[in-house]
Amino acid sequence: MRVRIPLEQSLRLLTPGPVVLASAAHRERFTLTPIGWTTPLSARPPLVGLVVRPDRFLYELIVASGEFGLSIVSEQEAAALFQCGVISGRVQEDKFTGCGLRAVAAQRIGAPMVAEALAHLECAVLRLAEYGDHTLFVGEVLLAEADERAFDGWWGASERRPLHYLGGNRFAALGERFEVG
Ligand SMILES: Cc1cc2nc3c(=O)[nH]c(=O)nc-3n(C[C@H](O)[C@H](O)[C@H](O)COP(=O)(O)O)c2cc1C
Repeated sequence: MRVRIPLEQSLRLLTPGPVVLASAAHRERFTLTPIGWTTPLSARPPLVGLVVRPDRFLYELIVASGEFGLSIVSEQEAAALFQCGVISGRVQEDKFTGCGLRAVAAQRIGAPMVAEALAHLECAVLRLAEYGDHTLFVGEVLLAEADERAFDGWWGASERRPLHYLGGNRFAALGERFEVG
């Protein structure tokens, strides 16, 4: 039997794409922010959507720089990722160190990326649009790289799998991969 879900919980039914650690930098300042609301938008060109509330420091730095990085981590980094969502880069100067993660330079953008990540996507902002209390940034993927043991064209190639955010303090790791047909 399906039961009625309160509307304020309805988006959780669609939430669990991989949660990302989004980074952005402008001048000397940078931040690293967990974002659960992401979506593919186009294959050619490769476009992704990143949904950010305007009061986040991340929002300010993406608007200022026109770029953002997405680091996809595994279960092992779940606690560190969650910690990055508790504090703001406005008060914690170096959120990488504050959350126990290492920074590594990106190749096409100015924002630092997470060294421990399974994958990186480096993006340039094409446009933004406000929807309700959040803003959708549309980013073109300039460069993507992934750990070949974890991603062999698809996720689920090894034990190190991307992390999914379910809401509150609940997470899940990607399950067993299987084929049909
Ligand atoms: C797992 C997780 C997912 C989150 N997803 C989003 C999101 O999709 N959009 C958003 O604006 N904030 C999201 N947040 C909240 C921000 O990550 C949080 O407010 C963060 O501390 C903001 O940091 P900043 O001010 O340095 O950008 C999420 C937090 C957590 C812990």
